[in-house]
Amino acid sequence: MKETNIFGVVLAGGKGTRMGNVDKPKQFMNVGGKPIIIHTIEKFVVNPHFTKVIVLSPKAWIKHTQDLIHKYIKQNDRIVVIEGGSTRNETIMNSIKYIEENHELNEETIIVTHDSVRPFVTHRILEENIKFAKQFGSCDTVIPATDTIVESMDNQLITNIPDRSKMYQGQTPQSFNAKTLKELYYSLSEEEKDILTDACKIFAMKGQNVHLVDGEVFNIKITYPYDLRVAEALLGGE
Ligand code: CTP
Repeated sequence: MKETNIFGVVLAGGKGTRMGNVDKPKQFMNVGGKPIIIHTIEKFVVNPHFTKVIVLSPKAWIKHTQDLIHKYIKQNDRIVVIEGGSTRNETIMNSIKYIEENHELNEETIIVTHDSVRPFVTHRILEENIKFAKQFGSCDTVIPATDTIVESMDNQLITNIPDRSKMYQGQTPQSFNAKTLKELYYSLSEEEKDILTDACKIFAMKGQNVHLVDGEVFNIKITYPYDLRVAEALLGGE
């Protein structure tokens, strides 16, 4: 049997436009005295299962990302920084391309993809992602929805209020059999690519099972300036 190659994939290819007018993408902003992206990479580096931790950043920020890693993370020989893509899914595809070119992409290759701006991911969540991706081919980290979800097709009137007990909020990591994800992604039309912005949705829409992993309420994504204050508070309590 081929050896399972497990790769951590830290997605930092975004611009963080919802953070407002700041001089750098939000993943490079500091919380608790160091860049958000460093908190996130640290969670991956301490896990011995990852053959490599692939960090994907905008082209103009690759050197900066490498400098930060050298400054903050001593155990950095398994980390590599490469260019992200024009969309989040294209960024994930770049990580798979890297694996093909520098390692081997086979039936056993697993990628654990994670937002660089979710610095509070835990060891337990990473371990369960690896386990379920190996077992089921894909998994998504979620928490039960706290608010009732209201659907409106025209953004004016309610079309549906789904039963909250069946609703979840998606977090990351999202983990996949990398070869299957690649094949499914490249089978999509350009229109489908526009709709299937969530990588797990690609699996679900193509009839593949996506297993749920229990997330944590504190595994927040830093999106707005408000989230920076929440993150500071969470770090204060760590
Ligand atoms: N991301 C990525 N490549 C892209 C777009 C997003 O790797 N082409 C990453 C972001 O860097 C972030 C994660 O995906 O870590 C979650 O996306 P989001 O919070 O939407 O980040 P941004 O796209 O940067 O933010 P915004 O939508 O506010 O511009």
